[in-house]
Amino acid sequence: MAIQLGDIAPDFTAESTEGTVRFHQWIGDKWCVLFSHPKDFTPVCTTELGMVARTKQEFEKRNCKVLAVSVDDVPSHTGWIKDIEETQSTRMNFPILGDPERKVASLYGMIHPNANDTLTVRSVFFIDPQKKVRAMITYPASTGRDFNEILRVIDSLQLTDNYKVATPANWKNGDDCVIVPALQDPEELKRRFPKGFKALKPYLRMTPQPNK
Ligand code: BEZ
Repeated sequence: MAIQLGDIAPDFTAESTEGTVRFHQWIGDKWCVLFSHPKDFTPVCTTELGMVARTKQEFEKRNCKVLAVSVDDVPSHTGWIKDIEETQSTRMNFPILGDPERKVASLYGMIHPNANDTLTVRSVFFIDPQKKVRAMITYPASTGRDFNEILRVIDSLQLTDNYKVATPANWKNGDDCVIVPALQDPEELKRRFPKGFKALKPYLRMTPQPNK
């Protein structure tokens, strides 16, 4: 059965370029972005891994670990890392899981047979510290991911966990938010949103981002 939002992320043990990963234990009390790559020594994946390595501190600021998976084995990844470091001006600083038997890929439904029956698509799973799957993104192999979008999703998830807001179209950290429609009590509105809000419609109320 396909993984759905709110499910506990399947646990697994797998070898990686940084040793054995026991997934839930490895996540610990952090957030995690688990993302798949169709194959080693491929161009788009090379740029993606380089990008994540260069921006890893942005994930760390968000208390988030990153973990890549590719269906080749760890010795192959180790060879590929040399190319990533050479061409992407970075040092690899997070693990890539080896998955030659496609155990992780199968567990997470990362192989979409109508796209390709052996390689994974570009899946992204956002997992919270309780190990719940909170968001998912799926792109085809031909479309490299926008990691600013991935950081933006983490920002939205973490903000909306802590305040009774949701984030509107094209929201970026620091922009105005919408107040959740269920919140109607005038006293609570005043308490939660001391900077006030603008009601464009009774259901569409904009407020400055509460934690800024
Ligand atoms: C790539 O990463 O460049 C790629 C991988 C598989 C298919 C197409 C492109």
